[in-house]
Amino acid sequence: MNDHDDWDDDQADGDAGDFGGTGEEEASHRGAFGEFGGEIRSGFLDRSFRERIVLVGMTKDGEALEDTEASLDELELLVDTAGADALDRIIQKRSRPDPATFVGKGKVDEIRDSALMLDADTVVFDDTLSPAQQFNLERILGRTALDRTAVILDIFAQHATSVEGKTQVELAQLRYRLPRLRGKKNFSQQGGGIGTRGPGETQLEVDRRRLVRRMHKLERDLVGISDRRRNQRKARHRSPYRMVSIVGYTNAGKSTLLNRLAGSDVKVEDRLFATVDPTTRKTKLPGGEQILLTDTVGFVKKLPHELVEAFKSTLEVAAEVDLLLHVVDGAGRDPDSHILAVRQVLEGIGANEVPELLVFNKADLSPDVARLCERYPDAVAVSAETGEGIDELLAALGDRLRELSTVYEVFVPWSRGDMLAAVHREGEVLSETTETEGMRLQARLEEASAKRLAGYIVGKSSGAERAPERWTQPIIARAKRDER
Ligand code: GTP
Repeated sequence: MNDHDDWDDDQADGDAGDFGGTGEEEASHRGAFGEFGGEIRSGFLDRSFRERIVLVGMTKDGEALEDTEASLDELELLVDTAGADALDRIIQKRSRPDPATFVGKGKVDEIRDSALMLDADTVVFDDTLSPAQQFNLERILGRTALDRTAVILDIFAQHATSVEGKTQVELAQLRYRLPRLRGKKNFSQQGGGIGTRGPGETQLEVDRRRLVRRMHKLERDLVGISDRRRNQRKARHRSPYRMVSIVGYTNAGKSTLLNRLAGSDVKVEDRLFATVDPTTRKTKLPGGEQILLTDTVGFVKKLPHELVEAFKSTLEVAAEVDLLLHVVDGAGRDPDSHILAVRQVLEGIGANEVPELLVFNKADLSPDVARLCERYPDAVAVSAETGEGIDELLAALGDRLRELSTVYEVFVPWSRGDMLAAVHREGEVLSETTETEGMRLQARLEEASAKRLAGYIVGKSSGAERAPERWTQPIIARAKRDER
């Protein structure tokens, strides 16, 4: 069978060449996208059993081997979370990926041998594969070839529980799937009759149309859901509570910290992306103020853009809060790169202007955690598990929120002693100056009080304007400076 022209399609951005591969293998595996006779299913990995997986990473020019290894460690955890077992890992050093097969020809053979020996079901690549690379690899390897994005999409699909979460994940999956959709090969019936486009292709078009229709429906549903969410948020903005969002790399301990701070019972798992749907809890700070704390979905390096796009309405919650509690696994291998990855996502969703309080978690595991605070002077070290440092964190949270509140300049004539008393009662007076006509005060006031005292307010400065420069600078610039 000579079908190279068939599979090296126009989506390949380079010469695909001859890669061997036998028809027998094609028939024996399902393929991720239905092109080899397998069914198109909602997940990319089969969950009726634990699939056996070979992992593949690439160290490109200017990159360090340890970084590839660390990224593969994370991929192994992702694969495990998705419900499969990684049995082997293969790394290639290469100046840049091969346009047709990602890794070089010899490496493809090596992967194929390993997969055969281990009876692996699927090969998972740590970097994004183009649709053509994915197709070519599946054909040569004789088994499903997936990338990190597909694994993350599978995990999100398993963990989403709300209607919104499920809709967002399905949309992300379809966006990923559409350019990769292929017609089933049916070489015995090549040709077709007048008015048909040939067998396989017609079915492909039907499949594509079905997918696009479904995507449009999901997009419409999401508009409705996000309108409702916007109204809920407006209602929350009218509430007297300050809003704080817990963000951070996956597995940093966000849910554990939320439980610790709010005394709640949010699911905690030593798994990546245990939280897909956000949870909000009310908690009290030492000064008595109540705040609303929201746990968000964890971030990860190479977070699929399809997901960020689909999860925008969930993630955007982070852009609208008063403060971000950025939780970092301080005992992890490379906290700096996790901080950077999270800040990049935050920038992508327009949350880079929101003030951030860095929290280095898991202080019980290593003394290095406390030392990180020397490099990040405004950070707090805690252990969400043991409670160590939590009082300091609550105090820092209260301070930071107070600093961010609006300071008003109020002038009260001597005749209105009642108003002077109201400023003292309802706000935090920072300074008072006696003048001939009355008293001039600088005071922190909540919005409701400011409204009542509107007739006496002569000026104001918001917290963001007064915030130290490091909070308001773009996040990436901040990260670079932190690294120095
Ligand atoms: P995702 O939902 O995946 O984004 O995770 P998360 O950031 O919400 O992390 P989670 O709270 O689920 O915690 C992840 C793992 O770290 C769990 O096994 C926790 O028990 C553990 N963990 C969290 N905080 C601490 C801590 O302070 N010390 C120690 N030793 N383990 C912790």
